[in-house]
Amino acid sequence: MEDKKLAEARRRAIRRHRFTAGLREIITCHRAKAIIFLAYLLGTSWAWVNRDKALTLLSGGYPLLYHGLSLTLLLVALVLLVEIIIALGTPRRAAQIQAALVEAGFVNSSRLPPLLFSVHKAEKSYIYEFDLNNIPLSRWERDKEKIGAAIRCQVVNIKLSPDGRRVLLQTVPLRSALPEIIYWKDEYLSPEDFILTLGMSLTGRLETVNLADTPHLLIGGSSGSGKSLLLKALMGESLIKGASVFIADFKGGVDYAPIWHERCRMIFDPQSLLAALEELTAELERRRGLFAAAGMPNLTEYNKATGENLPRYIFACDEVAEVLDTAGVSKADKEAVYAPSVRLMSLIARQGRAFGIHLMLSTQRPSADLIPGQIRTNLTLRICGRADDILSRIILDSPAAAEQIPLDAKGRFVTNMGQTFQGFLFDDSILNE
Ligand SMILES: Nc1ncnc2c1ncn2[C@@H]1O[C@H](COP(=O)(O)OP(=O)(O)OP(=O)(O)O)[C@@H](O)[C@H]1O
Ligand SMILES: [Mg+2]
Repeated sequence: MEDKKLAEARRRAIRRHRFTAGLREIITCHRAKAIIFLAYLLGTSWAWVNRDKALTLLSGGYPLLYHGLSLTLLLVALVLLVEIIIALGTPRRAAQIQAALVEAGFVNSSRLPPLLFSVHKAEKSYIYEFDLNNIPLSRWERDKEKIGAAIRCQVVNIKLSPDGRRVLLQTVPLRSALPEIIYWKDEYLSPEDFILTLGMSLTGRLETVNLADTPHLLIGGSSGSGKSLLLKALMGESLIKGASVFIADFKGGVDYAPIWHERCRMIFDPQSLLAALEELTAELERRRGLFAAAGMPNLTEYNKATGENLPRYIFACDEVAEVLDTAGVSKADKEAVYAPSVRLMSLIARQGRAFGIHLMLSTQRPSADLIPGQIRTNLTLRICGRADDILSRIILDSPAAAEQIPLDAKGRFVTNMGQTFQGFLFDDSILNE
């Protein structure tokens, strides 16, 4: 009985909502809907004005019957008007989507699916607006695939509406998968300081990271997933924007064409790693003094206020686990070289943001303990390429990369911010300019 009452109340609430949504659509001039509405109004007005002949015939000349029929006609017209507005406020396929969500088990504790309020076209994507339905946003994220299957689209982004009561799903058609290869173009370089372009999202938008807010990053992914190329892209963009780039690579820099050796500070062994980190942290301390004296909170403000152009520093390390791995290292070296290096990297991770000193690290090893906790927690942007469940969870704290990136994909990544993008393919000639 109680259930029936609740269901009836929900049905009424839904109809009320659809009615207001329908009115909104008509008023905001959704052209096709406004035409249907106006056509109905014109049709019924015409029928009302010309009702006399037909009603006289039907009522057989009885005035009471005539008025009764007139009233019935008016009521039917009004009921139809309400139904038409409700229909105009109901998104296409709403009932099927609702049913598919129930079938997929995406329901609240009362086993009700979220209500689809509206579907709107945005740039290259569609926004599906649902009520939150007492389902936490984390579950929407987790069940993204299920929801996508129910609405027969690919969900690329999930967020709350500004009032926090609705969920907005950004979707693209299933077949609009990203191209396998996107070549870098100079126009992709952001003019903003210090925004780096990561790649292209499923909706064709550029995904970026602003190092002034998100200072350090970690790239993970299985072998051949495209980590090194992405790291190179980010280092290359940083160089073009005037940053100083340090590259730690104990393989002697063989993966880097001569241009990288010319333009970057290459670090090939543990001793020079420590020396470079000491230099970077000394610069950090120097800037701390400068900024304090000038009363400036960070590099951007300091450069703006003083007209100086202190560069950003990028400390990059592809396969950081190789560099930090102390297996087979003598105790003396561990204490004299490795431990201080890790300590200095932690300092940069914790304090580098304001002073424009950034870490960009990559790893393919699915082991949580190779990157010390203090560094790891400060790598605020985590990016994962093709990976198994374990690696995806280590990098992103979620299985997203394992679930969303096809096994043969190269240069396809998911971030811990929920962005999916295709990195750019480029060659080192972009550094020659
Ligand atoms: N964005 C991309 N678009 C297309 N192909 C790519 C992209 N990134 C990488 N690749 C291809 O994938 C191959 C492997 O890339 P990369 O060396 O960057 O992977 P990796 O993850 O660093 O691999 P490993 O773990 O073996 O070092 C490259 O040779 C390149 O051809
Ligand atoms: Mg690599």
